[in-house]
Amino acid sequence: MRESIHGQWSSRWAFVLAATGSAVGLGNIWKFPYITGENGGGAFVLVYLLCIAIIGIPIMMAEIMLGRRGRQSPINTMHTLAIEAGHNPHWKWLGWLGVVAGFLILSYYSVIAGWALAYVFRTATGTFTNATPDGIGSIFGNFLADTESLMFWHTLFMVMTMIVVARGVAGGLEKAVKFLMPSLFIIMIILLGYAMNTAAFGAGIEFLFKPDFHALLYYTDDFGVERMSWNPVLIAMGHAFFTLSLGMGAIMVYGSYLPQDASIAKTTFLIAGADTMVALVAGMVIFPIVFANGLEPGSGPGLIFQTLPLAFGHMPGGVFFGTLFFILLTFAAWTSSISLIEPAVAWLVENRNMDRMKASVVMGIACWLFGLITVFSFNIWSDITPLYMFETFRDKTLFDLLDYLTANIMLPLGGLLIAIFSVWIMHEDASVDELNMGEGLTYQIWHFLVRYITPIAVIIVFLRAIKVI
Ligand code: TRP
Repeated sequence: MRESIHGQWSSRWAFVLAATGSAVGLGNIWKFPYITGENGGGAFVLVYLLCIAIIGIPIMMAEIMLGRRGRQSPINTMHTLAIEAGHNPHWKWLGWLGVVAGFLILSYYSVIAGWALAYVFRTATGTFTNATPDGIGSIFGNFLADTESLMFWHTLFMVMTMIVVARGVAGGLEKAVKFLMPSLFIIMIILLGYAMNTAAFGAGIEFLFKPDFHALLYYTDDFGVERMSWNPVLIAMGHAFFTLSLGMGAIMVYGSYLPQDASIAKTTFLIAGADTMVALVAGMVIFPIVFANGLEPGSGPGLIFQTLPLAFGHMPGGVFFGTLFFILLTFAAWTSSISLIEPAVAWLVENRNMDRMKASVVMGIACWLFGLITVFSFNIWSDITPLYMFETFRDKTLFDLLDYLTANIMLPLGGLLIAIFSVWIMHEDASVDELNMGEGLTYQIWHFLVRYITPIAVIIVFLRAIKVI
């Protein structure tokens, strides 16, 4: 049995908390509501939930299993396990795909987390008290136009991330998550109480849970012609990967620090369950506020920054709860961002002989620089839409494209390869041994899903989205 040179979680619970910390983040509270709003609501949510169940959960188990068996950075884990299975060591490129995806995601994740950080101070100073929807909209608009301000908060968040990464995952992270995750959940429930009392709670719930497949699959083009597109299905699938931190080795690398006796299946259910709950509650908070104030559900990445401040501006104790909310959101983003860069840092330590400190500084600076593309996408480069010649990408800024490329292409591709490796390449005795739940029904279901359903589903959605079938 291998041991990781980077240490191990102190217990199974430490892993569950850290992995939940990685999963629950901006994806749940910022991204899920805005893409749901852009893609018509209920049917989108249903596809997303289906993807969590038949793709996300099995892939998460596979990733943890591979990580714990390899006990190294994803690149070296894939290399070792491929050789062990008598296969081509080029499987290490799967690790590289993940490292690049994580790097690109963190570059924009840090910018958005910077918004959350900025909103801590705005809420605390009473900026939103009694504000109107228009007022809040223009505060947000002015903020995005202010390049220096976005850069400042992006810098601050990146420094925060790298400090934790430099100290090692098991150090401060375990303690922080134990306390912060439950707090975030409690404050979400308080917000849910507020949303329930708005006149539009019913409308919000209906939007979120009443599936309208026509709204999901059809759109009207410039000539008023109705057309069908599977692109929203691809977005829902990509988001299932994104929200569970799958497809790029983050969960794999966390799995490599998991004690040998922990049950992979049980931990996976806990993590996926918590993550899904947070996303659904976020949706149930945000859409009633959207409809109660006549806002546009499809207004894009600014959605929570334009709706939640309204709630905080009008509810009793809003300054307190609002400030607390954005602090917790920042923490949720923080515990996620760490996992995005951990595979790269672990590799630098293993193969380039760097200490964690140096590896973190190198990655932090590179990622910060790349993040400027996202900063500029919201102001000086907001008109740059390089793929305007394709209908799907017509209005997409560099930030939108980065998000699309990583979440909807790189992560599902990584997940597909992880699935293929786990059941077609790796020997069955190895997966039975590592999953450690015998060869009973749970194992059989997992094996079947990962062997057939996951790969086929990913491939069909890919091909449909590019209109090949
Ligand atoms: N899951 C996180 C969120 O929902 C983001 C994240 C962290 C992530 N690590 C990841 C996404 C790895 C993809 C891959 O906010």
